[in-house]
Amino acid sequence: MSNLQDWPEPIVRVQSLSESSLHTIPNRYIKPPHDRPSLTIFDSTVAEANIPIIDLAGLFSDDKVLHAKIQDEIFNAARHWGFFQVLNHGVRPELMDRAREAWRDFFHLPMEMKQAYANSPKTYEGYGSRLGVQKGAILDWSDYYFLHYLPLSLKDYNKWPASPTDLREVIDEYGREVVKLCGRVMKVLSTKLGMREDHLQNTFGGDDFGACLRVNFYPKCPQPDLTLGLSSHSDPGGLTMLLPDHQVSGLQVRKDGKWITVKPARHAFIVNIGDQIQVLSNANYKSVEHRVIVNSAHERVSLAFFYNPKSDIPIEPIKELVTPDKPALYPPMTFDEYRLFIRARGPQGKSQVESLKSPRCCSS
Ligand code: OGA
Ligand code: NI
Repeated sequence: MSNLQDWPEPIVRVQSLSESSLHTIPNRYIKPPHDRPSLTIFDSTVAEANIPIIDLAGLFSDDKVLHAKIQDEIFNAARHWGFFQVLNHGVRPELMDRAREAWRDFFHLPMEMKQAYANSPKTYEGYGSRLGVQKGAILDWSDYYFLHYLPLSLKDYNKWPASPTDLREVIDEYGREVVKLCGRVMKVLSTKLGMREDHLQNTFGGDDFGACLRVNFYPKCPQPDLTLGLSSHSDPGGLTMLLPDHQVSGLQVRKDGKWITVKPARHAFIVNIGDQIQVLSNANYKSVEHRVIVNSAHERVSLAFFYNPKSDIPIEPIKELVTPDKPALYPPMTFDEYRLFIRARGPQGKSQVESLKSPRCCSS
């Protein structure tokens, strides 16, 4: 493995490639045939399906029956899909729109302004164009921006774009609101596993949890059938709140071996379970593979907000969920250790969390 100090090759911005009006994409972006999006296009079941949509309005009311119904919906979606959309989630629609459009504005700044924030694989913070440091790897058709929101010791405004001028303020407020929403979902996930509502949060380190944001920019692509905007992966962290582009779809979720294209509901968040919650819940909740396809007509911007455990505490199946019938499936590992994998090798389906499953865990 190369060291994590710098990229193994000069960085090419996908946006620059896209704007250079190429008719064919460079070989570096051409996926092997079995990974290309086009293979599933004629499968009607894929076209028709969507992930569950859950209206959270009742979570804010005193109606116990309605409350229980929504909790059940979240529980079932988190178990069987690992993905769902939420409506009436409490985050203001105007704030969502401004957050996404502020980032779109950033990506449309002149390249020199963006280059000032160029990232390295050491922390990934800043403006980036690849995940993983393997020399010669096939790359994804996207650029991104990655920043830390929490803990405060890692939050550094100098690493957040200074332009557009309201971006820092907007993202601050956006982060505050999305953190609240994640906290609510965590309580439901905890309660439905038969634990106190704050138990899952406590295993994240209580108030010392982490949060970071990856903004994905998928430029137009002249040959979308040959590549992917983001290769198949499961999210390594705890819980993800994704704000998709309201005009352009692209996210696909794997369900029973098929790829389902998510149709985003207006002003919904797409919630998904990450690997750390799969581990803590001893696989009662599933982190599910997903990927992003691109297209030749429209760029796409999405904001993936990752709500993570404190990064230096061991994460392992919660004791209450480990029984003789259901032994611990995973050994303890800190999130710092865990994310080194994706940071070195890039998105690799679910191979990481699966590889943790070890016979030695299942004996006690
Ligand atoms: C991610 C991700 C999906 C999207 O950033 O981890 O899965 O629609 N993004 O951009
Ligand atoms: Ni993801």
